[in-house]
Amino acid sequence: MVAGGDPGVAGSATAQEHWSSRFAFVMAAVGSAVGLGNLWRFPAEAGQNGGGAFVIFYIACVALIGLPLLLSETLIGRHGKSSAVESVRVVARESGGSTAWSALAVVGAIASFLIVSFYSVIAGWVLYYIGVFAGDLFASIGNGNLTGGAFAGQSAEQVQGLMPALFDNNAVMLPLHALFMGLTIYVVARGVTGGIEKVAVYLMPAFFILFLGITVYGAFSGDFAEALAFMFAFDPARLLHGPVMLSALGQAFFSLSLGSAIMITYGAYADRGVNLAKTSGMIAACDTSVAIIAGLCIFPIVFAAGLAVDSGPTLMFQTLPASFQTMPAGSLIGLLFFVMVFFAALTSSVSLLDAPTNWIRYKFGWTRARTAVLVGGLAFVIGIFSALSFNVMGEWYPLDFIAMFREQNFFGVVDGFTGKIMLPLSGLLTAIFIGWVADRRLTDAENGISGGLHLFWRFLVAWLCPIALTVILILGIFPELIG
Ligand code: PHE
Repeated sequence: MVAGGDPGVAGSATAQEHWSSRFAFVMAAVGSAVGLGNLWRFPAEAGQNGGGAFVIFYIACVALIGLPLLLSETLIGRHGKSSAVESVRVVARESGGSTAWSALAVVGAIASFLIVSFYSVIAGWVLYYIGVFAGDLFASIGNGNLTGGAFAGQSAEQVQGLMPALFDNNAVMLPLHALFMGLTIYVVARGVTGGIEKVAVYLMPAFFILFLGITVYGAFSGDFAEALAFMFAFDPARLLHGPVMLSALGQAFFSLSLGSAIMITYGAYADRGVNLAKTSGMIAACDTSVAIIAGLCIFPIVFAAGLAVDSGPTLMFQTLPASFQTMPAGSLIGLLFFVMVFFAALTSSVSLLDAPTNWIRYKFGWTRARTAVLVGGLAFVIGIFSALSFNVMGEWYPLDFIAMFREQNFFGVVDGFTGKIMLPLSGLLTAIFIGWVADRRLTDAENGISGGLHLFWRFLVAWLCPIALTVILILGIFPELIG
């Protein structure tokens, strides 16, 4: 039936698993897409790249490049019904192409593995802030001061100092990294129906409720008008600005979990009845709305507190906590905010660990649990170096002799190498594979669209995606080309 292991035999180590419903599939895929990329990275990038121009270009990237690729990836998985690597092989073989195309999924699975190593470190910071705000909430209940802002009696500098203090403290950062990775391993080890989709169908709806609640709260008590103006101000001069376009496409890839073997893996758990075009559209729409609403959630709060919107990666962990200080019921809102971020991060890290785990377990015929522990354990160890990049190893530049990694520490190198090279490379290969190699009858039978829309999809996959991704790759590797 299907190559790789012996999926037909119930109970065999690599039996192909299935989502128990379409809802579970959509929640898991949205859960993978919606994560730190939307809540932490998107507002930071938008803030640093001037708001409106970035946002507009980002939306174009999602619609014209992200969405066609998302459909291509889920389609490969659903047809191959195996690990991402095996699924590409199945499609290649049936199309009379070389099975070497499976390299696209190998690159993707390794990228996922590397990303989860540092993703878990950042998610560990989220756990830290949950602890900090929970402690503050208890203290304010004790004082009978529930309606006041967070961290009563502390100066804004003290609150902003939480983050540097955390970064200096490996005794806190490393255990939290271990805790988050442990949770991720546990969920992945429990399997598709027992772990991955359970987490998704409970945590994602909870996420959406918290998310909308906090946004509405921010809109009423923060400076919503200014945030709106900032996010949607149209400045044509910045629109065609190379670096802005580059970061928008990179962000679209990261945010939709593309080029990481994840959507192939998740597509393989989907049944024949699911319309992949519709599902992909839904995933992209949810992901983009969450990113934009995250901006509309965070910026009003930041503007109201009069803090800087272009603070970048520290926006969520430093600027925002200080903003909660000035808000009514700030400690409660802060706690809910970071719990919400944790939900989003866990459903993403689970997908990041599942893609490489599934590849390895098919390859060696190991059980899911054993593979998850080994792969996740190794990712944890590599992640330690990313954590240390925020303190003792901060000025160790392992690849300083390469232009694109100059003055980048270990974390910077792993982040840059995966985001700027591996994900776009895997995406480029996917586009060429589906656009030029895969049998049309096969893709037509899987994708769930017809007529003009279908032709448009083929055009985007065969032409626009390869060209845009080649440009991205070249500019990512030779940043000096755009100064
Ligand atoms: N898409 C997830 C996020 O936005 C994380 C992720 C990145 C997952 C890259 C897979 C690949 O946080």
